[in-house]
Amino acid sequence: MAETPLADAMVLFGATGDLSRRMVMPSLFFLDADGFLPNGFKILATARAHLSREAFLEQVLETLKARPEGVDDTVWTRFSERLDYVACDATSAEGVKELAPHLEGHGRPMFFLAVSPSLYARICAALAGSGLATKQSRIVLEKPIGRDLESSLQINAEVGAVFDEDRIFRIDHYLGKETVQNLIALRFANTLFEPLWNNLTIDHVQITVAETEGVGDRWPYYDEYGALRDMLQNHMLQLLCFVAMEPPADMDPRSVRNEKVKVLRSLRPFTRADAQSSSVRGQYTKGVSAGKEAVGYETERGQPSGTETFVALRADIDNWRWAGVPFFLRTGKRLPERRTQIAIQFKPVPHSIFGNAAKDDLIANRLVIDLQPDEDIELLLMNKAPGISKGGMRLQSLPLSLSLLRTYEGPGARRRIAYERLLLDVIHGNSTLFVRRDEVEEAWRWIDGVAEAWSEAGMAPKPYAAGSWGPSGAFALIERSERAWLD
Ligand code: BG6
Repeated sequence: MAETPLADAMVLFGATGDLSRRMVMPSLFFLDADGFLPNGFKILATARAHLSREAFLEQVLETLKARPEGVDDTVWTRFSERLDYVACDATSAEGVKELAPHLEGHGRPMFFLAVSPSLYARICAALAGSGLATKQSRIVLEKPIGRDLESSLQINAEVGAVFDEDRIFRIDHYLGKETVQNLIALRFANTLFEPLWNNLTIDHVQITVAETEGVGDRWPYYDEYGALRDMLQNHMLQLLCFVAMEPPADMDPRSVRNEKVKVLRSLRPFTRADAQSSSVRGQYTKGVSAGKEAVGYETERGQPSGTETFVALRADIDNWRWAGVPFFLRTGKRLPERRTQIAIQFKPVPHSIFGNAAKDDLIANRLVIDLQPDEDIELLLMNKAPGISKGGMRLQSLPLSLSLLRTYEGPGARRRIAYERLLLDVIHGNSTLFVRRDEVEEAWRWIDGVAEAWSEAGMAPKPYAAGSWGPSGAFALIERSERAWLD
């Protein structure tokens, strides 16, 4: 891969918004603290609000101080010198031109659009019209790229009219999470797992993304998307791809993303019959979540809604490696705990030699990859229970933890924000951990099929009490194949 010159500035659109405040600014600050920002790298923040540079800096400092890591004065001085703020109307070329004098001497900017996706096309056109979008610049976009295949095609075409694909960085922040990258290391830096990573040895895979929070302030956005489009189309399908993809030849963006696209293309399309038997939609009603009383989804806004806040489904990958291995996915708001987890359930041993005493001891191996709240990888192995017993050998399971946190110990160790890795990769022009255009579109193609099947089958969301694991159908869904969700 040819070396890409480093970006020398970042223009942050939507700089006063939630994403910028909570994720982007702190990530840039920590990159600076660790010496990862190139010398002279400038951060030009922009939004509509007429704020002075000083007032903006004050806001950033406040946000950083509210975090547990603390703010080192020397780093802050260095970081604040990079920071500038200019108000502008980013949807017109005239407006965007106001940024030009502040970017003088910076010919390789990256534009980060922390704004509503409905503005992507207009901002790109404005960047083109203002002359700021050059062959040397890059654009960073957040999900959701569209609400279905058709709208994603349109957004991709409009952005693509201004920026070449290798200059477009579509963020899925799950790919910046340490454990997701560790999954790549686990699979492809060991000889142990890969020979077993197929339908001969693996029984099924579970991917759970459970949140205790409700939808709250994001109601208007969320109501248009629901759990299927907000979480499954992107984060969960990405996790599925990393579990299911064939070994790429190398870590080059093209190699990795080609393999992911193949997985997406192998997903079995959903039919109307699958909608009933292989998926569940739910919407939370009042209940108790994380120890507190919680109102229902509709009550949060005082408006009726047919949007799902929970989805569970069975996905099948029609290829040689995965034929007959179901992938069970579930995600929801207001579930009993925060848990993001991938569980690879291996098949039981074909025959037990241990006799009656150990009949109930024997558990099939399992690899559990925890992303949240704690990061860990745990391999469940069987071994002999210590000591002697009358009826013959007893067995016990041994959870072997490959805890990532252990490797974090040491000076300066901390859990990084997913955006740190991703922003550093944009600076270096490495798009391996970003979503390519055809990936987004293939994912939408499959998700559109699910949504259509739901609508053809007339499937409205089933109520579930806040603080529960979703509608009872979610249990039936997995039990139908004589399996169960992991506790
Ligand atoms: C976002 C979704 O992309 O991911 C949110 O829009 C969700 O609805 C969030 O809460 C979850 O991210 P994380 O990193 O907290 O699991």
